[in-house]
Amino acid sequence: MSKEGVDKGRRRVLTALTTVVGGVGTAYALAPFILSMQPSARAQAAGAPVEADVSKLEAGQMMTVEWRGKPVWIVRRTEQNLKDLSSLEGELLDPASDATQQPEYCKNAGRSIKPDYAVIVGICTHLGCSPTYRPDIAPADLGADWKGGFFCPCHGSKFDLAGRVYKGVPAPKNLEVPPYKFLADTRILVGVDEGAA
Ligand code: FES
Repeated sequence: MSKEGVDKGRRRVLTALTTVVGGVGTAYALAPFILSMQPSARAQAAGAPVEADVSKLEAGQMMTVEWRGKPVWIVRRTEQNLKDLSSLEGELLDPASDATQQPEYCKNAGRSIKPDYAVIVGICTHLGCSPTYRPDIAPADLGADWKGGFFCPCHGSKFDLAGRVYKGVPAPKNLEVPPYKFLADTRILVGVDEGAA
């Protein structure tokens, strides 16, 4: 993953774009908001790193921020979620994330810097739909083995809570993990690599 340049003067706190989802179902509806901005603001929003305040994000909840025109999900995983990640490996196409879809510092069991916070680009690696957050356990439509994750309704791709794709679905790769870093315990900057100034 290439290093992203940091232009501190262009950093924007896009808290107005943030949505928090704690249950079933979310729609990606940020594009109209971006389109309603003035052109200069749009350009800034399209390229600048985005800071996310996760202090109010409770375990099991997800929030979405906009980065480079893409939805980026931040999920605060529960203790049980973290235990479940390791139990799914036999069902996943690329459980160790050997295909390059994350920064080197996120090539680990949770594909994250801190185990409890997952940061994932919310665009399906099949044909680009935005999957739905499905933290519910064993729902009727996803089966008794479902332990929470993301479901793409376009063609049925499934991903776990680390964005790893299941075997036997159309999506060929795990969801992308963007470059990001923690500015503080509950402040994440998306678009700048961990370790970058
Ligand atoms: S775009 Fe997600 S399954 Fe096809």
